[in-house]
Formats: sequence, C-alpha cells, structure tokens
Amino acid sequence: MENGRTEGVPGKIRIVKMEKSDVPILLEYGKRHWKDEGWLTKEYLTSSFGQAGLSYVAKYEKKTIGGVILVYEDIVRNWIRYVIVDKEFRNLGVGGRLLATIFSHMKAGESVFVDTGVTDKKAIMFYEKMGFKNRGEVKSLYENKSAYIFLLPKI
Ligand SMILES: CC(C)(COP(=O)(O)OP(=O)(O)OC[C@H]1O[C@@H](n2cnc3c(N)ncnc32)[C@H](O)[C@@H]1OP(=O)(O)O)[C@@H](O)C(=O)NCCC(=O)NCCS
Repeated sequence: MENGRTEGVPGKIRIVKMEKSDVPILLEYGKRHWKDEGWLTKEYLTSSFGQAGLSYVAKYEKKTIGGVILVYEDIVRNWIRYVIVDKEFRNLGVGGRLLATIFSHMKAGESVFVDTGVTDKKAIMFYEKMGFKNRGEVKSLYENKSAYIFLLPKI
C-alpha cells in the first residue's frame, strides 16, 4: 500500500471473474516477480485465459491486484497456470482466497496440480499451507530451471 497501512484492506478486496482486460496488469505483476523468464509472455497469459478452466482476479476498489488461472486440460487435468498477487497486497490472504474460489467451483473429489520453481521458497510455503503435497522435481521445466510439481489430492 502507498502508506504501508493495511488495516481494513482485506475486507475491501473482492474476488471476481477474470476478464481479458485483466491480462496486461497480471502480466506486469508477473514480470516484476519473474524477471527475464521466457515463459511469461502476453501470449502465455492470453492463451491460458482462453482455455476452458477457471480464472479469477482480486479487486481492491477498481484495481486488479492479483489473479489465478487454472486450465481443465493440460499435461494432467486441473493445472494452475498462473497465480500472482501484487507485491503491495501480499500476506493479506488474497492468494488463499483466489485458490479457495477456484476450489469452490470444482467438483468434489477433483485433484489440482501446480508447478513452482525449486528456489521459490515463498510460493512453496504458500502451496504447502494451502494443502498441496510436493510430488517431485522436474528438471529443466522452465528452460534451464527445475520445478516442483505440487498436487492437492482432493478438493
Ligand atoms: C505466492 C503468492 C501468490 C501468495 O499470495 P498471498 O496473497 O501473499 O498469500 P496469502 O496471504 O493468501 O497466504 C496464504 C498462506 O500462505 C503462506 N504464505 C504466504 N506468503 C508467505 C511467505 N512470504 N512466507 C511464508 N508463508 C507464506 C502463509 O502461511 C499464509 O497463511 P497465513 O496467512 O494463515 O499465515 C504471492 O506471494 C505471489 O504473488 N508471489 C509471487 C508469484 C508466485 O510465486 N506465484 C506462485 C508461484 S507459481
């Protein structure tokens, strides 16, 4: 937040369906976090959003402050392609609410997968906190970098 104050902010954050117009700002947050990573392009986000799946954003007042994109069909079913929260709004429960929203729109008993860089400690802690289990490492998933595959066994 501009003045560093967050009291009362979570209560003013709404989770709503993502629209195509959210792509540029979600891309910008991602570019700030994953600097110079080739996989993160406008085409990646646009095509992920365009696939059958579930996509939601978090809004604070009129500003989009984060988002999640899950596609139903990838290497496996129910793959989370993207999760990002604007740095100024992290640790306020926004990421958790975005995931909870997609889970609430899935059938009971479905599994969810997501990948994360092996060095991305915060994301790893986040997924573990959300109930995901680390199912192993894939070498060179992102160009020369390795990833962990996380599975949430059942909604
Ligand atoms: C990962 C990310 C989406 C989490 O969003 P967030 O809104 O900050 O997460 P929440 O506030 O909902 O946190 C949910 C839980 O995750 C854990 N967590 C989140 N950030 C954490 C951190 N920096 N350190 C330790 N635990 C953390 C906490 O246990 C938290 O639960 P609590 O609030 O009960 O303590 C956000 O940090 C982000 O955008 N990171 C950069 C992009 C990224 O890594 N995306 C995912 C990788 S694919």
